[in-house]
Amino acid sequence: MTPTRETFGNISDGSRWVFYGLAVAATALFAWGLHRRVALWRQGRPIGLRALLSGSWRERISRWRPGARRIAIEGLGQERVRGRGLASGAHGLLFSGFMVLLLGTTLLEVDHLAGMVSSNLHFHQGLYYRVYETTLDLFGVLFLAGCLLFLFRRVRRPPSVGHRASDWGVLAAFLAIGVTGFLVEGLRIGWQRPEGVGATCSPVGLWISTTFLHGWGEGELRRGHVVLWWVHSLLVLGFIAAIPHTRLLHFIAGPLNLALAPATLGVLPPVRMEEVEATGRVGVGDVRHFTQQQLLSLDACVECGRCEEACPAFATAKPLSPKKVVQDLRGVMESLATPVPEGEAGVHGAVVGAETLWACTACSACTRVCPVRVDPVGLILELRRHLVAEGTLSGTAAVALRRMQSSSNPWGLPPGERGAWIEGLSKPPAPSA
Ligand code: HEM
Ligand code: SF4
Ligand code: SF4
Repeated sequence: MTPTRETFGNISDGSRWVFYGLAVAATALFAWGLHRRVALWRQGRPIGLRALLSGSWRERISRWRPGARRIAIEGLGQERVRGRGLASGAHGLLFSGFMVLLLGTTLLEVDHLAGMVSSNLHFHQGLYYRVYETTLDLFGVLFLAGCLLFLFRRVRRPPSVGHRASDWGVLAAFLAIGVTGFLVEGLRIGWQRPEGVGATCSPVGLWISTTFLHGWGEGELRRGHVVLWWVHSLLVLGFIAAIPHTRLLHFIAGPLNLALAPATLGVLPPVRMEEVEATGRVGVGDVRHFTQQQLLSLDACVECGRCEEACPAFATAKPLSPKKVVQDLRGVMESLATPVPEGEAGVHGAVVGAETLWACTACSACTRVCPVRVDPVGLILELRRHLVAEGTLSGTAAVALRRMQSSSNPWGLPPGERGAWIEGLSKPPAPSA
């Protein structure tokens, strides 16, 4: 007999329709949540998306190629996520497991719809079925291993890693989705009783069936299958609806930010006089003065703490954590969900203090290590520009600027003594003419 299985086997027609209804509701909730986030990002300074989409196909492709490359290499290939021990390993397992399970579920639905058109189009059988089932079992195990490793890391998380109560919910839901998925498979093998390769191609389900369900009657197996199928389905639909409201938003905002972030991170864009004349401002005083891409990047941040660990100011107990700056700005962005008058979504003072901004050495270490191309130094320098423009500069930064104005150097030395500090140091030979 050709190995295969019915997609909605043992599930009544009524249950299928309820399932599809709930799937539409979950997708609508997901779309509504995402729409609300996009509405927040759009309140920033426009980044000329329309211009990026204009022109001939050739022009558009050449404009989007670098972004698409970054999505492929840094998103799908996880290039910037690697190199952080347990967390990178856990993410690799979770990510690859998730992507393969997502692809597998999509193919299953395609097969189901194709089968409704004509039974000749049904392709979920034979060799394809065997490869499919074994692959999904394998990646399901990797997915569960990633969840367990992340749960362990969350229990013993380093102080630099951020934490929200919903993080437990996300990992627990992933774990429950994986476990109930395998239980459904075990129960299905129990009542369907496939033979030979039709059973062994689902090794985890077969193991569950022979180890834990031994001695169950067909009626019990079928009832258990329906109950677990519903638990599994409701968990998956709940997860879809929850994506925009949890840290999982990063797997939409992350790749988008990878594509849209400037290629030269950590480079300070010059102040354009036309823009100053048009807007009457320099730098960022209200969170909406950031660009749309910068606001998007606040949602891409996963609070992994890499930037904080790399920051020399944080390491020397200065009042600066780049991760906290990003998260505090994100908090202000969220206040834009209800209309806020221009200038009142302020980001200075209680949100990000001047002492925090001036503690930054602008070394760009934070930006270099960020796995999703958030640019904390770029955000900080825009905030500083505002302070300078407002004349609210104090401390060593103010003194240095005054000296630059009066003596053309930050130490306030007379021009003849400016180079004195180099005396006695070994100088590189002067370049030959
Ligand atoms: C699309 C590209 C993605 C990128 C660049 C990315 C990047 C990251 C990074 C850097 C972290 C922090 C890891 C750490 O603490 O060092 C993270 C956390 C996480 N990612 Fe992703 N991710 C992506 C997609 C996904 C997908 C598709 C999933 C779905 C399973 C996922 C699930 C998670 C979860 C659950 C966490 C939090 C784990 C915890 O509790 O600490 N990510 N991601
Ligand atoms: S800004 Fe980047 S490096 Fe820093 S916590 Fe957020 S994701 Fe991690
Ligand atoms: S640029 Fe500033 S915030 Fe970033 S690592 Fe250097 S000192 Fe820290």
